[in-house]
Amino acid sequence: MMIPSDRPLLIGVMGWPVMHSRSPLMHNYWLDQQGLAGSYVHLAIKPGGLAAALRALHPLGFAGCNLTIPHKLDAMTIVDEVDDVAQMIGAMSCVVVREDGSLFGTNNDWLGFLGNLKQQTPGWRADGGPIAVIGAGGGSRAVCYGLLREGASEIRLVNRTREKAEAIAEDLGGPIQVLPWEERHDALDGVATVVNVTSQGMVGQPPLDLRLDHLPKSALAADIIYTPLETPFLAAARARGNDTVNGLGMLIHQGPAAWKLWFDITPTVTEELRERMERSIAGD
Ligand SMILES: NC(=O)c1ccc[n+]([C@@H]2O[C@H](COP(=O)([O-])OP(=O)(O)OC[C@H]3O[C@@H](n4cnc5c(N)ncnc54)[C@H](OP(=O)(O)O)[C@@H]3O)[C@@H](O)[C@H]2O)c1
Repeated sequence: MMIPSDRPLLIGVMGWPVMHSRSPLMHNYWLDQQGLAGSYVHLAIKPGGLAAALRALHPLGFAGCNLTIPHKLDAMTIVDEVDDVAQMIGAMSCVVVREDGSLFGTNNDWLGFLGNLKQQTPGWRADGGPIAVIGAGGGSRAVCYGLLREGASEIRLVNRTREKAEAIAEDLGGPIQVLPWEERHDALDGVATVVNVTSQGMVGQPPLDLRLDHLPKSALAADIIYTPLETPFLAAARARGNDTVNGLGMLIHQGPAAWKLWFDITPTVTEELRERMERSIAGD
């Protein structure tokens, strides 16, 4: 695929803080892989600076950017067009700068979550049995949206703050059953998949308070956290014989969708890339 010579090959991630982000490592790997002389950079944008930063993308020659904490919600009211997926999920992860300078926003996190599960566990199916989703923040919205799009037949959603889980069930519709936080342990009864989408277990946070005695040994345990690569929840699941998938692949697998929008190229997710990312995270 030839990229028009006037198509900028500058991309980046806007966040605050942002310097810890592994996105540049990943996208610069793909620029190399595709033989393109471009650059993906950290864009350290404070909360109040988002609108000016997004508007500056076009004059600075950027093809687009990714968004991370705390910008995923605020960007929705700044860009010129928000697609239906980002509207449904209620957050934006990717911005495309069009030729006329207008800004288009979408969300690829759900694609990353599904792409990762499919690559890591090829036999996995969303309709293979009940799915327990623990947590109801921004990551949960993308995960629930993806599971529903993939044909999930039953999602048991539990969150410390019940109202947030109920809002997801109402916004997304479909077979989502909200259960009280106190019932999270029993919610694992007979599930085919359990996903941690809380921030519990992340570096600096206590482990997720979830007993696994009801979790079938055949169930897949997934986490969307990737620092550390193996959270205490995943370690406990692995120790009792469950298959596990960490959150790194969710980050990696949303990348090709962004590239398709920015450059009409689909870069390849390779084992070498995953290993490089793992080494970088393990080195923290
Ligand atoms: N792999 C990826 O590409 C990817 C993408 C997105 C997010 N993530 C990761 O996913 C995690 C969640 O991110 P997010 O954006 O969804 O965050 P968020 O919107 O802030 O949501 C945080 C979630 O954690 C729950 N929580 C926080 N403290 C808790 C506690 N003490 N006990 C029980 N639940 C607690 C919250 O419950 P309440 O509603 O009750 O506060 C909420 O459900 C983060 O670690 C983030 O790095 C990874």
